[in-house]
Amino acid sequence: MPRLELAALFEYSSSEGCHLCLEWSEMTKLLYGKPVADQVLNQVRARILSFVGQHYRPPRLTVVLVGEDPASIIYTRRKRDVALSLGMEQETMTLPANASPTLVQETIQSLNENPHIDGILIQRPLPKGFSEEDVLQWIDPAKDVDAFHPVHAGRLFLGLPAFRPCTPAGIMMLLDHYGINPAGRVATIVGRSSIVGKPMASLLLNANATVIQCHRQTKNLAQHTREAQILIVAAGHAGLIDESHVRQGSTVIDVGIHRTADGKIVGDVARDRIEGLVQYISPVPGGVGPMTIAFLMKNTMDAAELRMTQLSGS
Ligand SMILES: NC(=O)c1ccc[n+]([C@@H]2O[C@H](COP(=O)([O-])OP(=O)(O)OC[C@H]3O[C@@H](n4cnc5c(N)ncnc54)[C@H](OP(=O)(O)O)[C@@H]3O)[C@@H](O)[C@H]2O)c1
Repeated sequence: MPRLELAALFEYSSSEGCHLCLEWSEMTKLLYGKPVADQVLNQVRARILSFVGQHYRPPRLTVVLVGEDPASIIYTRRKRDVALSLGMEQETMTLPANASPTLVQETIQSLNENPHIDGILIQRPLPKGFSEEDVLQWIDPAKDVDAFHPVHAGRLFLGLPAFRPCTPAGIMMLLDHYGINPAGRVATIVGRSSIVGKPMASLLLNANATVIQCHRQTKNLAQHTREAQILIVAAGHAGLIDESHVRQGSTVIDVGIHRTADGKIVGDVARDRIEGLVQYISPVPGGVGPMTIAFLMKNTMDAAELRMTQLSGS
């Protein structure tokens, strides 16, 4: 039976009693992020060449790292390596773990005012004592390449052009690349953080999905996740989602990243328990992660071009 017909059959079949389940189970496909991220990075690389030709300097990204969280140090190095490999300038400003919020805010302010810097990012998590709501507002929106500032959040909510937060925007591109159109589909999101869950809901709603958003106070999580034709899991809880939470033939995007005691990287989804039930799943590692970093580079490039256009116009 041709693949599309099989997909259509599954879309409309109930979870019980479908004799095609076994056939389907052999077809779960992994949504790898790397090939999609490489396309984004290649476009950014080409844009950097043209930017340098025009402005005699590459775009410049500054990462602010407060403290010495080991995972943050690794993520920060990865961002630096990718930025440098593309031909961007990148620097990391490291502040001690006991730096006061005032010192960090003043540091960000000086970066906001520095005309040679195009993009600024504050590496999370920040040490205790910082208010996430305050920190979101410190970076000038024109340089906020994580796109967490209320200006970007508000514009995204209204469906207006804005920088898009890297992880949810990367997920939308992943879906698009693999031909998964959210329009008219039920999309359930587990998580409502400002950096993943909430912007994800806006992007899916803007793409005409019917969106269900779950959080810790949600009663009967599985009832809502089983409705999902597209399930996005960003709970920060390893293995939270298993076979009791998914709809047959659905698409599952696993945002979570966890390191197990034996050093393995796993997600929020127990993949081995849902493989065979769903049509698509993004692997961890190698699914959403590469998209996030690619989108960061894209946002930095957009910020640099936009700033230079505005400067030359003023
Ligand atoms: N792959 C990537 O590039 C990437 C990027 C960003 C984040 N991540 C990973 O994605 C995960 C989520 O990140 P985040 O920053 O959004 O986390 P977060 O700020 O801790 O938010 C977690 C969200 O999940 C909800 N939640 C937690 N446990 C739940 C449960 N048992 N049932 C229902 N909802 C539950 C929480 O609900 P409440 O609001 O009620 O507390 C909260 O809204 C983490 O593992 C993080 O490392 C990966």
